[in-house]
Formats: sequence, C-alpha cells, structure tokens
Amino acid sequence: MTVQPRPNALSESYWMPFTAARAFREAPMMFVGAEGMHYLESGGRRVLDGMAGLWCVNAGHGHPRITEAIRTAAGQLDFVSSFRMGHPGAFAFAERLTAAAPEGLDHVFFSNSGSEAVDSALKIARAYYRVRGEGGRTKLVGRAKSYHGVGFGGLSVGGIGRHKRDFGPLLPDVYHLPLPYDPARMGFPNGRPAVGADYAESLEALLAVQDPSTVAAVIVEPVTGSGGVYPPPQGYLERLREICTKHGILLIFDEVITGFGRLGTCFASQAFGVTPDLIACAKGLTNGAVPMGATLVSAGIYEAFMAGPPEAVQLFHGYTYSGHPLACAAGLAALEAYEQEGIFANAAAMAEPFAQALHALRDAPHVVDIRTIGILGAIELAPRGGTRGPAVADRCFAAGVLVRAAGDMLVLSPPLILAPAEIDRIAQTIRDALLAEA
Ligand SMILES: Cc1ncc(COP(=O)(O)O)c(C=O)c1O
Repeated sequence: MTVQPRPNALSESYWMPFTAARAFREAPMMFVGAEGMHYLESGGRRVLDGMAGLWCVNAGHGHPRITEAIRTAAGQLDFVSSFRMGHPGAFAFAERLTAAAPEGLDHVFFSNSGSEAVDSALKIARAYYRVRGEGGRTKLVGRAKSYHGVGFGGLSVGGIGRHKRDFGPLLPDVYHLPLPYDPARMGFPNGRPAVGADYAESLEALLAVQDPSTVAAVIVEPVTGSGGVYPPPQGYLERLREICTKHGILLIFDEVITGFGRLGTCFASQAFGVTPDLIACAKGLTNGAVPMGATLVSAGIYEAFMAGPPEAVQLFHGYTYSGHPLACAAGLAALEAYEQEGIFANAAAMAEPFAQALHALRDAPHVVDIRTIGILGAIELAPRGGTRGPAVADRCFAAGVLVRAAGDMLVLSPPLILAPAEIDRIAQTIRDALLAEA
C-alpha cells in the first residue's frame, strides 16, 4: 500500500507532547532553522532564543563542531548495539565525561533522555542495595515541584501534581520533601537564599517515621528547574548530603537542566561543592543535537556491582540506543566546544548582568517574584488561572523573543553564549509585554 502524505503541513497525524494541540494549530510557532542565539522562521524572521531550545542548547544552535562530528559519525558507523558490543566513541566519551564530572563519579551509564537517565538512576539505586544484600531498602524520596521526566519512576518521585494525575497508580513507597522556598522569607532571590537550610530537616523528620534502613535514595534537582527555578538555600544541599550519608541513603542529583554550565561550572554539584552518589543528566550533554541521557555513578556503587562473578551480567537494564555512535560523537564535540570556547566561563561572567536585568523587572506590572541563579531565571506573575504567562510569552514571541510560560510564570534559560545586548533585549521585551498586559 502506498501511503499518501496529507497536504496539510500541520496534519493531526502528529500528536505533540505537552502541547495544546488545537490552540497550536490556530497560532503555530514553527521554525525551519537555527543558528547561535536565534531560531529562524520560514519567512526569514529571526527569533532570539531565551530558552536554549528547552534548557539544552547551551553552546548555541547549529554549533559547527558538533554538526560536523555528527556528520562524520553518521558516515562511519550508523549503529551498534551496546548489549555485549561496543564502539570506541562510547568509551572515549565516557572517559571524557567522567573526567568533567565531580570527583568520585567515575562511571557512566548511557540512555537517551533525561527521563531515562532518572529512571536508570532510581533502578541502579535499588539494585545497588540488592547486590549488597540490603534488598529491604526500596523507598524513594523526591521533592515538591521537582520535575524528573515522564517515565513511571521519574513521575513517581516528581513533585508536580498535574503531571501525575492521569497516570496512576504510580510507584508505591515514594515520599516527598517540601520545596525549600518561602516567598515571604526568601522572595526575589538572586542566587542561593541566605535562610532556609532548615528545610533539610524535613528529611530527618521523614526518616523518623520511615525507618531509614528501608530507604534507597533521595532525588532532588540541585536547582528546581521547570517547576519554577528555585535556587537551594545556602547550606540546604550540604545538610541533605550529611543526612543521607549518616543513614546510608544514596543521594541523586537530577542535573538534566543544571548540567553543562548553567551555573558556570560543568555541574551544579561543583558550583555548590556538594557531591551526590549519582547524577542524572541529558540536554546539554550533546548540546541538544542528538537525544542522549547519562547517569553518572560513584566508584563505590559501580564496584559493588562488579564484585560478582565475571561471566554474570551485572545490571539487567539498558536501551537499544544506549551509547549511540551519533550521540557519543555529539557529546564529545559538545564537551570540547564548552571547554575550548570558554562557554561555562561566559555563563559565569553573564550571570550577574542576567540577574540584574531580570531583577530590574521587579517594578513591572503583575510581577510578584523573581528568582535567578546562573543563567536561569523565573518571573512569577500575579495568578490569573495560568493564562497570564502564556499571554505575556505570546507578546514576547510577537516581538521576536522566545521565553517559556509555565502557568502564570515565565522561565528563562538562554544559550550560555549570550552577550549583554541579548540580555537587555530579553529583559526589555518582557517589560514591554508586561506593560501591554496591564
Ligand atoms: C530536571 C529534569 N529532569 C528530567 C527531565 C526529563 O528529560 P527528557 O525530557 O529528556 O526526558 C527534564 C526535562 O526537562 C528535567 O528538566
């Protein structure tokens, strides 16, 4: 049978993720190209990308080194299974990536997305206790407002109610810590709030109820990202680390957004000086150019698995495309670009101008809170049933700047190659849009 393509370019054949599909077709936002800080529309208009795609294109769009690496890899080895087979690129990338990771996270398990990196971390955590003869440690602890992707594991530990509502029952024996944020005490933070480390005590309180010897892992985003950019209070992550260590519980950082330079260091763990036992990452791992996720694990965890007989499979887990040749090539090229072009250093240098420009919007109409850290920002607007954020974002888009609305909130995460002029344009466009909404 010959399948005829339907003539409509916006065919309903495509079921778009996390999208109001009917509204999209009324006012489609479509791009045909991208370069550096900009997307390109079919009519030729350039749109300044205030979101690095979706928190991922850290070195800017269409990076020539990464594009070339993918092209070369595709011409050389299109695919090889990573189940009992390999290719040199996967080993080279693993070595390069673990060298960039916090000290002690010496091993990496590859997947294809942030969701898979998180689910891999949760499964490794549970399996780790099994191989150590502590199979009773199965409970998982997440946190309110956290986003850990859409797999059943990540959804279960995630803390955004709307995402979970339609899909239960989720994993049992999952508990949540409160979001370590109170606008009355910490409002308008630029960086880590000075108060709020005490929120970590909620973990001790939970463990006083849930026998700690039944808990496998605590997972948090070091900076809550898509839930609204909440920087961690000073001392909070340090205290979580202490409590986990005290009770022999694994600490997992979900660095899918914070990884690869958002805070001016490769990982947020390095910026905060707190080392977890596992890190889930994705997005900037390949600069968004090829789907890939990675779960970094400590030497102690890895070695526990490797202690068994040499002929035994250590972990019954993996994906057809784990360590895909194109993804490894893109990842290696991305790490080289980040390093050789000083992209993390630029993020560090631009963090304060970025924060100042956003915080200057404090007096703009509807603004009730502004939170910034590194090249991440959220502007919380007076609630209007979730419609104010999209209305303001639409106005920004009409003015040629892409920002993301999350309910009555705008979130920002531009590529890390940004310059002061682009920061000013983003902030001015948001101000104009807020004024127009008044
Ligand atoms: C912190 C965090 N974890 C996990 C994910 C899921 O990643 P993916 O959409 O690649 O599955 C995301 C995506 O935005 C994220 O922000």
